[in-house]
Amino acid sequence: MEKASVRNALSIVKVIGKIYDSRVCVMELWESADISNAQIGGLANEIKEVREAVEYPLTRPEIFQRIGVEPPKGILLYGAPGTGKTLIAKAVAHEAKATFIRMSGSELVHKFIGEGAGLVRELFQLARERAPAIVFIDEIDAVGSMRTNDGTSGSAEVQRTLMQLLAEMDGFDNRGDVRIMAATNRADMLDPALLRPGRFDRLIEIPVPDKEARLQILKIHSRKMQLGNVEMDAIVSMTENATGAELEAICREAGMMAVRREAEKVEMIDFTDAARKVKNEAVADNRMYT
Ligand SMILES: Nc1ncnc2c1ncn2[C@@H]1O[C@H](COP(=O)(O)OP(=O)(O)OP(=O)(O)O)[C@@H](O)[C@H]1O
Ligand SMILES: [Mg+2]
Repeated sequence: MEKASVRNALSIVKVIGKIYDSRVCVMELWESADISNAQIGGLANEIKEVREAVEYPLTRPEIFQRIGVEPPKGILLYGAPGTGKTLIAKAVAHEAKATFIRMSGSELVHKFIGEGAGLVRELFQLARERAPAIVFIDEIDAVGSMRTNDGTSGSAEVQRTLMQLLAEMDGFDNRGDVRIMAATNRADMLDPALLRPGRFDRLIEIPVPDKEARLQILKIHSRKMQLGNVEMDAIVSMTENATGAELEAICREAGMMAVRREAEKVEMIDFTDAARKVKNEAVADNRMYT
């Protein structure tokens, strides 16, 4: 199904090919992502930092002009898996008064083989059409890992995708109305070319939650549960180094344990058992939560 735009003389000016079809699949417009700040535990400073760097240049450019600084070109969120990077992006999309386009780096290389570079071009094209816009490249490590040079065609394809991304970023100026952000859990693996000034030049670390944040996250994910006499502070002390995703898993698991017991409410024992279970799984997977 190809569409063509036609001029008076009936000559075909432009064939809109297949790439437009795949771009619909690989790019998501998060115009009304349903995550608000209230659903994120901790990370208040990080969210603020992200919004200042991504949104203010679009909505309040005069601040940057007055002070005489260039806004950052690209913002990179980095941190362990499950710490809330994608979540923060959703919250920014929710609040932003701009089009928010998400593309997943891993989908780009695993689902759309051979189309990566073209899709990156399309992504930025779409952003320009819909400006003011925020482009979010999630899991950027899939396209932006250190060059491997193992000579396989797979890596050559990833290479081309990365080169296209760098070229697109260089084609924007800092004050423009398209902002670029990305997320990764492997910042150490990223090609240094991506981190050079004028590319992703603002790095924001998304930390593992501290005590206060763990309490908030546990509350967020248990807010719909019927709780018995549960001392969340005790769970907080048991879950040092757990990520947001793991805390969410603990709440879900505790709920399941109560279901299994055919109980009316989720009790402390459910949470302690769940915490132990999730911890054992993390240890088995060699994750940080030990
Ligand atoms: N700070 C948080 N507050 C509330 N929930 C959280 C938080 N962090 C993580 N979660 C929960 O964990 C899930 C996974 O988080 P998210 O997808 O944002 O992780 P990520 O940092 O993008 O991980 P990855 O690096 O693996 O992509 C979220 O959907 C959410 O339910
Ligand atoms: Mg993520």
